[in-house]
Amino acid sequence: MSDYARRAPASITPSAARLTESLRDIGYDFPTAIADLVDNSIAAKASRIDILIEFDGIHSRIYIADDGVGMTESDLIEALRFGSRRDYAHGDLGRYGLGLKTASLSQCRRFSVVTRHAPLQRRIAVRQLDLDRILRSDQWLVIDPGATEPVERACDWLDDGPGTVVIWESLDRVLPEKRPDGGWARRRLEGLARRTVDHLGMVFHRFVEGTPVEPPITITLNGEKVPPWDPFAPREPARINLPDQVFELAVGEVVGGVQLRRTVLPPRDHFSSIGEFERLSGPMKWNRQQGLYIYRANRLVQWGGWNGLRAIDEHTKLARASLDFDTDLDEAFNINVAKMRVSVAPQLKQMLDRPIHELCIRADDAYRNTSQRHPRSLAGPFTERQTAQPNASFGLALRAAAMQAGEYEALKRILELLKETAPEAAQSLGLDQ
Ligand SMILES: Nc1ncnc2c1ncn2[C@@H]1O[C@H](COP(=O)(O)OP(=O)(O)OP(=O)(O)O)[C@@H](O)[C@H]1O
Ligand SMILES: [Mg+2]
Repeated sequence: MSDYARRAPASITPSAARLTESLRDIGYDFPTAIADLVDNSIAAKASRIDILIEFDGIHSRIYIADDGVGMTESDLIEALRFGSRRDYAHGDLGRYGLGLKTASLSQCRRFSVVTRHAPLQRRIAVRQLDLDRILRSDQWLVIDPGATEPVERACDWLDDGPGTVVIWESLDRVLPEKRPDGGWARRRLEGLARRTVDHLGMVFHRFVEGTPVEPPITITLNGEKVPPWDPFAPREPARINLPDQVFELAVGEVVGGVQLRRTVLPPRDHFSSIGEFERLSGPMKWNRQQGLYIYRANRLVQWGGWNGLRAIDEHTKLARASLDFDTDLDEAFNINVAKMRVSVAPQLKQMLDRPIHELCIRADDAYRNTSQRHPRSLAGPFTERQTAQPNASFGLALRAAAMQAGEYEALKRILELLKETAPEAAQSLGLDQ
């Protein structure tokens, strides 16, 4: 017998000063931090979200205001806790109880939340979280800042009914340290505003457009409406949609569906206009916008890239595929706090392998643009081409298999030869492109 005596458990509260500093760096940039607050507004059933980016040197401020359900005073205090406690409904955009704090502090040292819950009474609650105060006291403190000028301004927003305004001040991560009041600082803020419009228009495009069951939400930035950016260009007549697929995914006890939709966007000459082609290029431009668009409860959490299924390639830049999942599959997708990174489970990767290869082959065809030789071949939907060429699906399967076997280049050489030696055979397999 050892003479070691087992001790009682000790509660070790994390150091507020140490933890808040490190929580500033969990991967947000300015647009993704704003998007995380927009998530909260949408979860609070807002129909309108106004973002104001106001340059005024070191007094520059950002306001994010919504007309959602707002919070009572006790709700507000709980909301400011790192790891807020609450239950999440199916499809709720929140998950960790962290976003409001981590997103805000990733950009500023002090933020306030001004909120009204009661529809009939103008009862407003205000609290502030100030990083410097937390550092000094080493305590998780929230204070009532009183009726400061920005708070008064936020109260005006809430004149007509419930809603919430988040105010970011002391923007140390946004403004340059040197000359925060100079022209460069102003231009930097203007640049961030433009990037934010693009980002919000992309990740929330389904909310801004509205869905069959949800009315559209209006998002404005500095007074201008954020236009939706749908990566799948639904109104382009020359795009090609491949058949949809649904996969079942099991995580522990939970079984959920993941829906795959695949689109080959038209090459430049087949777009309705050059302007539309440029617009569909997206915030990161054609090459980096190819790949998977992963939607969690209709909100985009990944916008392009192939998650290790294949590499980004100029030849497949017209290929885009959406994957839709609901919040019950969060664990399978390993969603991170900033809602800007997911991983695709190996089980799902395997199921996606073939359909994605098929998509990329079609995109490669479209990229090589056979318009001169086959003026209609890219315009029609998949089925149209299959009827015209009864064996085209064999050709597609052959190419998909070659790609999976890592022998696509070899197959291409074989087909070149086949086209010369037996052009009809190549044509009947749809391999003559
Ligand atoms: N604009 C808002 N309107 C109403 N309630 C809000 C708003 N913003 C935050 N809240 C409340 O504050 C809580 C904490 O928000 P926070 O973003 O920190 O966490 P979350 O949304 O629950 O989860 P996640 O970390 O995934 O974002 C929310 O759960 C919500 O109850
Ligand atoms: Mg949140």
